[in-house]
Order: sequence, then structure tokens, then C-alpha cells
Amino acid sequence: MSTTHLANRQAFYRHRIIPRMLVDTNTRDTTTSIFGHKVSAPIGFAPIGINKIYNPAGELPVAKVAKELNLPYCLSTAGSQPIEDVGAANGEGPRFFQLYQPHDDELTISLLTRAHESGFTACIVTLDTPQLGWRHDDVANSNYAFYHGQGADLGLSDPVFQKRLAADGIDPKTMPNEAGAKWIDNVWHGRAHSWEKMPWVKETWKRISGGKPFVLKGIQHVGDARRAVEELGVDGIVVSNHAGRQVDGAIASLDALENIVEGMSYFFFSFCFF
Ligand SMILES: Cc1cc2nc3c(=O)[nH]c(=O)nc-3n(C[C@H](O)[C@H](O)[C@H](O)COP(=O)(O)O)c2cc1C
Repeated sequence: MSTTHLANRQAFYRHRIIPRMLVDTNTRDTTTSIFGHKVSAPIGFAPIGINKIYNPAGELPVAKVAKELNLPYCLSTAGSQPIEDVGAANGEGPRFFQLYQPHDDELTISLLTRAHESGFTACIVTLDTPQLGWRHDDVANSNYAFYHGQGADLGLSDPVFQKRLAADGIDPKTMPNEAGAKWIDNVWHGRAHSWEKMPWVKETWKRISGGKPFVLKGIQHVGDARRAVEELGVDGIVVSNHAGRQVDGAIASLDALENIVEGMSYFFFSFCFF
């Protein structure tokens, strides 16, 4: 039960820091850059869905704080505020858009267009969640807000999704649970995409955004990392197992990262989200 969550933590305990001495640390500088943005530190805000679970303002204060800290913010497709509002809350901050790719291409194009027009400067496609895993801790906590009308805000504010709702006779005002369920069916649709579809989404984002970075999230195997880089030509990968929330029994992310760095020593580009 939640063994990958445990493995993630254990991997961090196993990988210890080796302090170096007599280094002049009187002036410290943690700044770095990612995709052309100078940021305060080599960490960023991971995409986390449905922030309204813990704050009625959802993603807005998080995006605002990310800007204040000058750390990259990443909005999830499962966020609980419209893309445009999150972009405005983040202001001049560097921000990326995490896509759960629908099978409805017109909807994907609409989401990516809105993200680009709202100042999101990279597209990160999460691959590890074609449908929700059996999450023991979420089951124990009844953490399923989207079946109670929360977490569909990116869809409800989307013109293409609004068309789809109307076609099905779903009025989100009077039928919020049905609208939410339809959004979830689009986002965690239970039908996996495959490598063949990735050039389309990459090229679509590049065309919409004028060539901004394209990233795959959820990579855990050296072979997948290699394919993403060599065949697809991505601008980055996020080595991650979704905090152990998808395949329970999967390798710890930090161990996967070590394997991938070793397996791709000729080329490595990674960034960490905490
Ligand atoms: C409550 C919760 C919600 C999350 N929601 C999303 C999400 O909507 N999209 C996504 O790509 N990842 C989501 N994740 C995964 C995180 O983005 C991140 O991958 C995870 O916390 C582990 O960090 P790591 O990838 O640096 O190992 C979620 C994680 C948690 C704990």
C-alpha cells in the first residue's frame, strides 16, 4: 500500500549530501535559469490539481506567491481556476502549463491556445495519468473533489468544452456534477495516448506558441527518456512517478533520475519540481 510513496522518501534518505569544506560561501547565489527565465533557485511549483480543496481561491494565491518568490509556476489541467485568471495572478512570473491531453484534438488546441495567450511559456504533457491510479491515501481521505463539482474550472471556462456540454444537454449551472464528470472523462479518460500522437501535440504547441519549450512529465525508464529526446526532440523531461500516486510499486523518482542520468550521460537536461 503506497509503497512507491515510501520508496520516494527512502531514496531521498539514501542519497545523502557530502559537504565540502573551505568553500567561500559568504556570498550565496542560488539563482539559475530555466527555458530562458532567470529564477531564484533550481526548484519550481509542481502542477497540483484542484487547489480549491484547501483554499477557496484555488490556484490564484499559489501563482501569486510563485511570482513573489520568482520561482516557476506550473498550472495543472486539473486546476480549479480558469487559465486566464491564473495567468493574471502570476503576472510577470515565469509559468508553464501542464497538459492532460484529451482525445478531443479541438479541445487540446483550445487549452494550449488559452495557455499561450495567458503567458504560459512551456507545455508539459503529463504521461503517467491516462486514468487515476488506485490511490490508497486518497481513498482513505475521500479525496475525490471532482465528483462534487470541483476541479472542472479549466473546462467550464473553455469555449470548446462548453460546446461539448451543450451538445450533451448538460447545463453546468444546474448540473455541476454531470459537467464535472464529463470534464474528468476528457482529462483522465482511461484511454492511453501512445508515442505516435506525441509529434502532433508537440508541433501543435510549437505552432501556437511560436516555438516555446515542450516537455514530457512522468518519464521513469531510460528507454523512454532516450526516445523522448532522440526521436521526439523534446526540450525537457520531468522524471517523476506522480508522487507515487499512479503505479504503486514503481521505482522511486530519485532512483529513476539516477538511472536516466547514467544512461544518457551524453545528453541530460532535467529540472526538479518539489
Ligand atoms: C495532491 C497532488 C496532486 C497532484 N496533481 C497533479 C496534476 O494535476 N498534474 C500533474 O502532472 N501532477 C500532479 N501531481 C504530481 C506532482 O506534480 C509531482 O509530480 C509530485 O508531487 C512528485 O514530485 P516529483 O515529480 O518532483 O517527484 C500531484 C501530486 C499531488 C501530491
